[in-house]
Amino acid sequence: MKTVQNTLKLAGVSAIALGAVFGASPAFSETVFEIAFNQPETHPQYKAMERFGEALAERTNGEYTVKIFPNELLGAQKETVEMAQTGTIAMSLAAASLLESWNPDFVVFNLPYVFDSMEHQKSVVNNPEIVGDLYNSVADQGIVVVAAFTAGSRNVYLKDRPVETPADLSGEKIRVMQSQTNIDMMNMMGGNGIAMGQGEVYTAIQTGVLDGGENNEVTYWSLKHSEIAPYFSYTQHLMIPDYLVMNVDMYEDLPDDVKQIFTEELQKAADYEFDVFAEDAAKSRALAEEAGATFNEVDLQPFRDAVRPLTEQKLTSDVTKKIYAQMHGEAQ
Ligand code: GCU
Repeated sequence: MKTVQNTLKLAGVSAIALGAVFGASPAFSETVFEIAFNQPETHPQYKAMERFGEALAERTNGEYTVKIFPNELLGAQKETVEMAQTGTIAMSLAAASLLESWNPDFVVFNLPYVFDSMEHQKSVVNNPEIVGDLYNSVADQGIVVVAAFTAGSRNVYLKDRPVETPADLSGEKIRVMQSQTNIDMMNMMGGNGIAMGQGEVYTAIQTGVLDGGENNEVTYWSLKHSEIAPYFSYTQHLMIPDYLVMNVDMYEDLPDDVKQIFTEELQKAADYEFDVFAEDAAKSRALAEEAGATFNEVDLQPFRDAVRPLTEQKLTSDVTKKIYAQMHGEAQ
């Protein structure tokens, strides 16, 4: 049974006619994989997925293509991962922390200060020897992670003052992603973590439901959070990847040669995205500064100390301990 949705049968007149002439049935079918994305077309992840789509189409002679829906058009990340799970859409790009709702082991990259640098992150998150089992662990629930992109590092921003120490976050209601780990983390950092989907954050800060948020510079600028929370402080507390999550049946139904194309082109797309992200972050910062936002460096040590217990609390399963050891070059 073909489970791929949105398969446009382009078995047009000419194909049928040819079939009649040559006795074959060379019906051409185009499979369009719909991808949900919660940010604008200017985001490096959008461009990376677009490149993937172009390469896929080219290498399969148009048989497989992608269609990306940006700006939360199909819903917030949590909902769109559920849509990929049920096969309503093929794929969703989602922050790694959300996957904890499917398998708590996904916490491993959602721990504060877990990566030393973007190069470190790059060497880990698409390395099948390290992440293969984790990324396939949700297959029985209908999804697989097919690629990981960087989202830089996350930093707090407030509407009325810069943050220098954990004490500066006291009483501040800060939006975090929908994961208990992220709520616990923000509380340990000194603030008051409130979980919600990305699309609601602007209005929540504007109306005083929140005092601020935490994110990378690209998202901060492109979602215009700089307008309502202009104090951006480099706490660098998280460097969490985003995952391209795909419906498992749609993935498994791919012919082997197309799976191979997926693997190769997704790796290229991820490499490209890792390469351009830092540049985009710097551009976003400059644009936000021009528009009046301020950016301040932060002494990380007090924040590192404040969140240290979280790693011990969350790193409990064999799977997460093994990944953690591998990514820090420790012998097994
Ligand atoms: C980053 C990340 C997104 C995520 C967002 C959020 O922008 O790249 O995947 O949705 O943060 O805070 O929700």
